[in-house]
Amino acid sequence: MQRDGATISLWQHNIPDYVSQTHSLPEITYDVLIVGGGITGISTGLLLQKAGKKCLIAEAATIGFGTTGGTTAHLNNFMDSPYSEIAKNFGEDNAQLVCTAANNAIGLIKKNIADYNINCDFSEQKGYLFSQGEKQDKELDEIYEASLKAGCHVIYSGSIPLPVTFRKAVLFENQAQFHSTKYLYGIAKAFEDAGGTLLQGCRITNVKDGESLEVTSDRGTIRAKALIYATHVPPGVNILHFRCAPYRSYAMAIKLANDNYPANLAYDMYDPYHYYRTQEVDGEKYLIAGGEDHKTGHVENTNMCFTKLESYLRGYFNIESIPFKWSSQYYQPVDGLPYIGHLPGNPSNVYVATGYGGNGITYSHVAARVLTDILVKGSSEYEKLFSPARVKPMAGFEDFIKESADVVAKLIGGLFPSPKMEELADMAHGEAKVVKYQGQSIALFKDEGGKVHAVNPACTHIDCQVSWNNAERSWDCPCHGSRFNGDGKMLTAPARKDLEKIELK
Ligand code: FES
Repeated sequence: MQRDGATISLWQHNIPDYVSQTHSLPEITYDVLIVGGGITGISTGLLLQKAGKKCLIAEAATIGFGTTGGTTAHLNNFMDSPYSEIAKNFGEDNAQLVCTAANNAIGLIKKNIADYNINCDFSEQKGYLFSQGEKQDKELDEIYEASLKAGCHVIYSGSIPLPVTFRKAVLFENQAQFHSTKYLYGIAKAFEDAGGTLLQGCRITNVKDGESLEVTSDRGTIRAKALIYATHVPPGVNILHFRCAPYRSYAMAIKLANDNYPANLAYDMYDPYHYYRTQEVDGEKYLIAGGEDHKTGHVENTNMCFTKLESYLRGYFNIESIPFKWSSQYYQPVDGLPYIGHLPGNPSNVYVATGYGGNGITYSHVAARVLTDILVKGSSEYEKLFSPARVKPMAGFEDFIKESADVVAKLIGGLFPSPKMEELADMAHGEAKVVKYQGQSIALFKDEGGKVHAVNPACTHIDCQVSWNNAERSWDCPCHGSRFNGDGKMLTAPARKDLEKIELK
């Protein structure tokens, strides 16, 4: 199956593109149009369709093309933003609410698997979080206390499932793992079997406000009473572009020489942290490990992230081979919680779900429940907590300023120095550069065949300068995470258009 990068994830391997039951756009007014065929869009569509809403899911590429095809599929009820931080920023009652929402989300995944008989290698697991220094010990104690108060089943543990030296560890019960694209295809089929319409290759290019929204797509005009953006950050320019920052994480599926594959899920406490688990796919066991996260467009040589991760892991594991290496993108919210609900600055019938941090699988199903309750019952008990319009001037305020300042810097000038046009002759096959020529910036990519592709490096969202991601062979925008392939074709929103092509004479 296709994905938004040049690397191949474990979840794409031996999985063909999903074939929709519908290939044309029926001319009806939909109750809900969902933009984006990742795990958020499809799980939300399934719940809404089953609740009696007539839904259309429009995916610009193929389902699972984005982060769902590049996740490492950890299902957790403890989050990247730990309960100690959530309690501090939002109060202990709300930390309990987050824990309940996460437990219900994992419960919903289990229910979907049972109800629709989805074979996706799901298994319940324990999750270990461990410290490796004095400062981390203290932090771990705080996380333990706050997680207990929030309602997690957590205990101290004298062991961890990894051959890694540690000082203290806690064990969370009731975590899980699965094969992300097998699950996605299972719920997509359930959605279509329930009467939902799933259109792939359907990019939304414009939305005209109204009680009934008039939506332009490259497959025709769509009318819908409500719209949900399940595309990470939404298109246009709104407050969420300043409250979420795009990050990339690096993962690998590893064959071990000694068959000592760790049981359960495990996480260290570095920033960025490393994460581990084992998965059997097609009869083969793999250790899946990840880390080396960074803000999108802020590392010049992204291949080095794989090199660093591999060298770190070789210090602990007897690695035989690494059949799969891949990276994927997620959005970090400034105050630690996702944004799910009405999209500020838009009519009351436009919604969004984004800002999941590294907990996308769990929060996708939190979003499915919250949005379904809002659209079907008129409200959700989580609506206020996850509201995209929430104002938390203290929580995340420093991050807010930092992210905003960062965007401004990218608008003014590029992150990396631009070489001169003459250097073009030295470009190797597969290499890319932003060059300045006669006062104009040009993004150049020389493909494997030696053909040079030239595009305007101004991102078509709001003109930040894109940077080359050599691991995924894409032009990545450091501001809000839009991504384009070497030829400028759009891979990832919030941009809606390809990069402008430049003719080279
Ligand atoms: Fe916003 Fe590129 S994604 S300017």
